[in-house]
Amino acid sequence: MYFASDNTAPVHPKVMESLTRANAGYAPSYGGDAIMDTVRARIRELFEAPQAAVYLVATGSTANALSLATFCPPWGAVYCHPRAHIEEDECGAPEFYTGGAKLVLVDGDDAKMTPANLRQKIADTVQGDVHRVQRGMVSITNVTEMGAVYSTAEVAALCDIGKSFGLPCHMDGARFANALVATNASPAEMTWKAGIDVLSFGGTKNGLMGVEAVVIFDPEKAWEFELRRKRSGHLFSKHRYLSAQMQAYLADDLWLSLARDANAMGARLSAGIAAAKGGKLLHPTDANMVFATLPRAAHRRAKDAGATYHFWPVDRSLDGPDDAALSARMVCSWCTTADDVDRFLSTISG
Ligand SMILES: Cc1ncc(COP(=O)(O)O)c(C=O)c1O
Repeated sequence: MYFASDNTAPVHPKVMESLTRANAGYAPSYGGDAIMDTVRARIRELFEAPQAAVYLVATGSTANALSLATFCPPWGAVYCHPRAHIEEDECGAPEFYTGGAKLVLVDGDDAKMTPANLRQKIADTVQGDVHRVQRGMVSITNVTEMGAVYSTAEVAALCDIGKSFGLPCHMDGARFANALVATNASPAEMTWKAGIDVLSFGGTKNGLMGVEAVVIFDPEKAWEFELRRKRSGHLFSKHRYLSAQMQAYLADDLWLSLARDANAMGARLSAGIAAAKGGKLLHPTDANMVFATLPRAAHRRAKDAGATYHFWPVDRSLDGPDDAALSARMVCSWCTTADDVDRFLSTISG
């Protein structure tokens, strides 16, 4: 009953096997390894983007910050949701790596920016006044930080607005696989066909040890990204161990099948909580994350039985009357089992 975060899940055995296979003899360093050639080719094929530049980094924050830095000038505004990981959870890395770009917050339910709000915020960014930041780029998280999923049409609507102002668009796809299987969209439909210029393509939350790909659909930006990755200390010398993880992830569609499992468990957990006495969902469970309130008595039973998850916001306390609602965030991963979910649901039901 471990629902703390998909980051807490183990590495998938096929990924470990791939690492072991890669651990034989010598291999060129700094991304010159032969495995990276296969990864690059596979990602280009999957995204129907033969020109795409593909790079691997070890964390999602790196993927996001370097992507933003490559596309947004230091005096630019990055339009994102107030709950965006780049706003709330990266310790200022986007601002640091862009050299000072300003995050401009665009509201909407379930951590989805609305087109009207985005248009307004971009329009409100006064141009040509030396005292103001200038319009920079748009950043969209899919799956959102509140567990909702933008459809391809919703992504396209936001990108169209960005493009109408001449702005590039980034997608934080820390849970990109979960978003794809939730929508049945192809990688191309969810990204460049909808107007995304650069994608942080997550792997770590979905079975890897620590690899995210950055997929840049405009090859003209590739060299700058490479320089920024090296300059920031994020170019791995023993790069083959990043490549080997991503190779296993993409082989036989492992990435999609793991995300399907995680989403199915998210749906099971969510339906059970919604049906439980005093259970209430706070956001739609479109993928693998459940945001819900339960009575404190139900949380106490769950915690006493060993369930692990975070109250949400995290500073919330279990103190209080038995029937008082308390909100929580529960995340399923590729290795969450139906038994885990069902035991949790029967525990909260008392
Ligand atoms: C939406 C989102 N983006 C990016 C990340 C990547 O973060 P990290 O730098 O911890 O890999 C996370 C991880 O929690 C996330 O939830």
